[in-house]
Amino acid sequence: MNPTLNIAIRAARAAGRVLLRYFDRVDRIQVQTKSRNDFVSEVDQSAEAVIIQELRSRFPAHSILAEESGAQGHGDFQWIIDPLDGTTNYLHGFPQFSVSIALRHRGQLECGVVYDPLREEMFTAARGDGAQLNDRRLRVAARPSLEGALIGTGFPFRDQRHIDAYLGMFKAMTLATAGLRRPGSAALDLAYVAAGRTDGFWELGLSPWDFAAGALLVTEAGGTVTDLAGDSRYFDTGNLVAGNIKVHREMLDLLRPFLSEKLAA
Ligand code: IPD
Ligand code: CA
Ligand code: CA
Repeated sequence: MNPTLNIAIRAARAAGRVLLRYFDRVDRIQVQTKSRNDFVSEVDQSAEAVIIQELRSRFPAHSILAEESGAQGHGDFQWIIDPLDGTTNYLHGFPQFSVSIALRHRGQLECGVVYDPLREEMFTAARGDGAQLNDRRLRVAARPSLEGALIGTGFPFRDQRHIDAYLGMFKAMTLATAGLRRPGSAALDLAYVAAGRTDGFWELGLSPWDFAAGALLVTEAGGTVTDLAGDSRYFDTGNLVAGNIKVHREMLDLLRPFLSEKLAA
């Protein structure tokens, strides 16, 4: 197996053990507020430290972009890490969260891992090698349109600048599909698109560590990921639309009337 993917899997497992160790005593975890509705706990920090230690020991020349400790190093290979995606869920004891680790080389995603430690589901992808869940090959759902589709999303609960545009999108998408889900971990939301558990996903204002691994999972599972304008620059905007090629196209058409100039950029 791809050696970088192997190490990423090992790092994700180690972080998963940290998350599980604290999960039955979330009421005693120390939490700090980064900004409104944005929390960081000792668990996020410990899990991130374990991941960085694992990656650093094997790839000392690689650089790192991690949610809690920021950017380190200058190598062309960059690890993008979210040690706990779904902190709000986790701190409430709500069982939907993940570890997300991706490797990017000069703007190209090389490998990615999204790990759900509660279900022991390890979603992995390497560029050109496809996507897997544990040892099973993944393929996006074959649904031909939004009719009957199940679509994942995330609410803009921190940065509420685009709340009105989002609520318009929410209404249109609810009317066009079988239903929406807001599980609370964008990395897993994308992994579920890759696994065909949902037919599509969209969210505004995400950070690279929320979607880097998940985006590669979707594309390696045969799906499409773009920003709201249908462009591949979603790393710049943090606005993502994902799905199989047909569902993705219908999602873009449906979301387009709600795009302000700012969201389309
Ligand atoms: C959050 C989760 C959530 C999404 C937010 C993210 P965090 O990440 O992915 O599903 O809606 O936009 O920030 O803060 O729990 O790592
Ligand atoms: Ca996150
Ligand atoms: Ca996080």
